[in-house]
Amino acid sequence: VVAVEVEAAVAVAAELDRVGIGWRHPLAAGIYSNLDAIDVVEVIAENCIHSKTRDRNSLRALGRELPLLVHGVGLGPASVSAVDEHRLSDIARVIGALQPSAWSEHLSFVRSGGYEIGHLAAPPRSTATIEGAARNLQRLRQVVGTSPAVENIATLMEPPASSLDEPEWVAEIAAASGAPLLLDLQNLFANAVNFGQDPVAYLMRFPLHRVSLVHISGGVLIDCPSAEGGPQTSRLLDDHLHDVPEPVYHLLETLGERCTNPLSVVLERDGRYPGMSALMDQLRRARCALAAGRARSARQQRQQASRHALLAT
Ligand SMILES: [Fe+2]
Repeated sequence: VVAVEVEAAVAVAAELDRVGIGWRHPLAAGIYSNLDAIDVVEVIAENCIHSKTRDRNSLRALGRELPLLVHGVGLGPASVSAVDEHRLSDIARVIGALQPSAWSEHLSFVRSGGYEIGHLAAPPRSTATIEGAARNLQRLRQVVGTSPAVENIATLMEPPASSLDEPEWVAEIAAASGAPLLLDLQNLFANAVNFGQDPVAYLMRFPLHRVSLVHISGGVLIDCPSAEGGPQTSRLLDDHLHDVPEPVYHLLETLGERCTNPLSVVLERDGRYPGMSALMDQLRRARCALAAGRARSARQQRQQASRHALLAT
């Protein structure tokens, strides 16, 4: 019976859910030769701003084969400062050229007081940054024409001057802006591990009804000196250089069970590339985890319907 249910869920997932991979130049040939096993490709917006016409045309051609997603990494909308208008118009031009099915940005800031930080940083989780993010996301929507999905980021330290925890803060921004959520399960897992939370319980505190996009990737444990000069502590660093760990697939299965939206799941890999078959194995594993979650959800709904029918008689 379970096998039949999983099979049925796989059929539903094949229609509604998508599993794909982030476009990176070293993976280009491998992506083209595995198009039958890839449902969606995510392109980093900033890599396309100054790309050659030939490269952009080849991405447009890829977009005729399967849906594209565009992922921004440089706007930093979760900030009390306004986003950079030049960068925003560059991103809007890329989105106009590639016509993706959705686009996304991070719940982070990237500059402050005129200084560029050079990476995605977690702002204080406060009313001020919720309001700033809502203002910035409204501006992004005005210029691009559609709202980005907003992504939770990994952090090695809890942002100082925060009055809310991460799930509360993400939920408040999503509610204030109306933006859908890109849930990065590796980022969520890293934050849960680094700050002593149970990963599944932590997942359940996010606004899962708003999730439409998902990232999976891998990281590595690193040693961090304690601030007081005490014993070293470990932190899980989200480096995108390692295979997806088992707990992240487990989170994807739980998400598939608890979220009824169709999901587009993207594997992010930024270096130390294994063979393409190893990456395709990770896509297959993700597809199975998602299908298993869908099957469990369908089974629970059937049991609930039977209980209700019994009570009604
Ligand atoms: Fe991500």
